Amino acid sequence: MPPIKIAPSILSANFAALQDDVGAVEKAGAEYLHIDVMDGHFVPNITVGPLVVEALRARSAMCFDVHLMIENPEFFIDEFIAAGADLVTVHVESVLHLHRTITMIKEKGRRAGVALNPATSPGAIEYILPLLDLVLLMTVNPGFGGQSFIPEVLPKIRVVRDEINRLGLKTEIQVDGGINKDNAASVVRAGANVLVAGSAIFGGSDIAAAVRLLKKAAADGF
Ligand code: DX5
Ligand code: ZN
Repeated sequence: MPPIKIAPSILSANFAALQDDVGAVEKAGAEYLHIDVMDGHFVPNITVGPLVVEALRARSAMCFDVHLMIENPEFFIDEFIAAGADLVTVHVESVLHLHRTITMIKEKGRRAGVALNPATSPGAIEYILPLLDLVLLMTVNPGFGGQSFIPEVLPKIRVVRDEINRLGLKTEIQVDGGINKDNAASVVRAGANVLVAGSAIFGGSDIAAAVRLLKKAAADGF
């Protein structure tokens, strides 16, 4: 099982002081910076584009984990990579030629992830798993921060973890949506190793303490 990593989602950060909030999670030892990109079509919300990624890139050395919740993500992958994305995740539900899209990301020397909505079967990525650096299992229906964790996704995490282990892969499993100190151990126990958290990290007054608390809660799942 790969080491546990924390990926604060900037969706719940203070956009008027983004640099400070990103600095706080970086200093607190969070491994990935999760950047939620929404287009108002694939999901009913609009967030940020490559310009924000580029602006943050100049201020942070964190691994930029860009979660594309957009239609036709292949049209924008080059731009996000040029802006500073280290890891690019596309939704299986929004891509027609998944192998081509994944290859496109990897040919640029970046890490590639595929996200699955809660209702999507893991069979959708079965034949492409060896190519993936990360599988993102959504634990809410994407579109908004601050939603409640869907526990029915737990068995799917286990299915994907077992398959990754069976094939001897190093693919990471990320969970995203409603993750907090109360459910962190359960997702880790099911096989996740990268925990995205927005409101649980940026929702309170002490960002560093929230990162530490989540890390500690996740470690209890080992
Ligand atoms: C949901 C996003 C998530 C979300 C996480 O559409 O992909 O990254 O903002 O926020 P919380 O942890 O508040 O659910
Ligand atoms: Zn996300």
